[in-house]
Amino acid sequence: MAAAGITATGEQGWSSRTAFILAAVGAAVGLGNIWRFPTLAGENGGGAFVLVYIGFVVLLGLPLVLSEIFLGRAGGEDAIRSVRNVAERSNRSTSWKGLGALQITTGFLILSFYSVVAGWVINYVFVSGGDFLGSLMAADPFSVAFSGETQDQITGRMGDLFASPGKLILLHALFMGATIYIVASGVHNGIEKAATWLMPAFFVLLVIITIYGAFTGNFAEAVAFLFTPDFSKLTPMVLNDALGQALFSLSLAAGGLLTYGAYVGKDVNLAPTAGMIAMADTGVAILAGLMIFPIVFAVGLDPAGGPALIFQTLPVAFNAMPGGALVGFVFFILIFFAALTSSISLLEGPTAWVIDRFGIPRKMAALAVGFTAFMIGVTAALGYNVWADVRPLGFWNIFADTDILDTVDGFTGKIMLPFGALLVAVFVGWRADVNLVKAGSGLEGGMFVLWRFLVAWAAPIAVFLVLLFGLVPGLLAS
Ligand code: TRP
Repeated sequence: MAAAGITATGEQGWSSRTAFILAAVGAAVGLGNIWRFPTLAGENGGGAFVLVYIGFVVLLGLPLVLSEIFLGRAGGEDAIRSVRNVAERSNRSTSWKGLGALQITTGFLILSFYSVVAGWVINYVFVSGGDFLGSLMAADPFSVAFSGETQDQITGRMGDLFASPGKLILLHALFMGATIYIVASGVHNGIEKAATWLMPAFFVLLVIITIYGAFTGNFAEAVAFLFTPDFSKLTPMVLNDALGQALFSLSLAAGGLLTYGAYVGKDVNLAPTAGMIAMADTGVAILAGLMIFPIVFAVGLDPAGGPALIFQTLPVAFNAMPGGALVGFVFFILIFFAALTSSISLLEGPTAWVIDRFGIPRKMAALAVGFTAFMIGVTAALGYNVWADVRPLGFWNIFADTDILDTVDGFTGKIMLPFGALLVAVFVGWRADVNLVKAGSGLEGGMFVLWRFLVAWAAPIAVFLVLLFGLVPGLLAS
């Protein structure tokens, strides 16, 4: 496969199609799959949410993944300039670049809390690493994790962590630092290298642990929970969450794919690539659900337990598993890496724009953007302890009871992501030059017609309705 060469931004692009796929799958697969999906599925009652989520991925997410990569590649620069370029070539208003601006703002905000949650993962890397070391020193490498602790002690560790602002902020700083370091190293030497090593390892371990959970946990109840839709649970809010999650998980509408698309070679056929990204991402989310919920039910935790859920269930599994000390340690490292290959794409979007806009070196841009996101994330970390009573959007009834982290997550997920997706659908479906779109998509005949229908009609209508019924009642009631 020919090298993508130097892009319009002067950045060296992906070295091959495979490298791009791994980087894009790396961006897609992350805390969204392992942490956010199980959390939301649990809070929203399981089956119905999962069904709607998969529907959104297939009918809306997949077509939009192709749309965004296409836009990025056709535009060839940062997210804002790329959209402006395509608008210009289509003889449309350059104000469409606002779509790029909205997206990188969204990505920037997501990064700020994403890094806090990734910090929790790092905490468990340390804890389980210490455990594993201990088992080695006791010459018992097959020991379980957290041996000697009761289940309550294990699940209670999360509360201890939340109670310590210093620890939360330090871990958040570590993660953001790693993200900045990779992005500062560049697309080819940083991002691509990280993804090609880490994603395959992550996949293998995920499958092993899921199989383990299937044999030891309450698999039947988990399957029933995840795949038996109870349609009475389908409120507009559930639809809104499912849509936001589909977009979040596929890295849509937050500048990631627009930006990565610009580094893709002109010879790459985008349609099958988009399919692979969507399939890998959704597969991992389902596997993560099948890994976590058997343990939730076996241990008697509440599936609607919220953001701490996976950090309470996984250690319990490792506590029961022979060799759990080792497996737990390795697995938390891999979640950390999955989070890292996602956070670098969140940082790359705004960073690429800052490089282009202010003409400053990549290292400086990555540091400036990353540090600002870090500072916003600090408020989210403090929202678990010193600012536990703060409700930033408390006046709005759908956010009445959400802490700082959940508010930033909810606002970006329920509102900003759907708006960003809506704009992409309208722009690619109605405003961008059809010949340009057709050539760039790599689709022919009926497939092109179907894709265009989904982008131009299905996506805007669906997103509009979800926003209308999900948000307006809440607004009126506030
Ligand atoms: N998709 C990533 C995950 O599931 C996180 C993410 C959300 C993201 N939006 C993004 C990554 C935009 C890159 C760009 O963990």
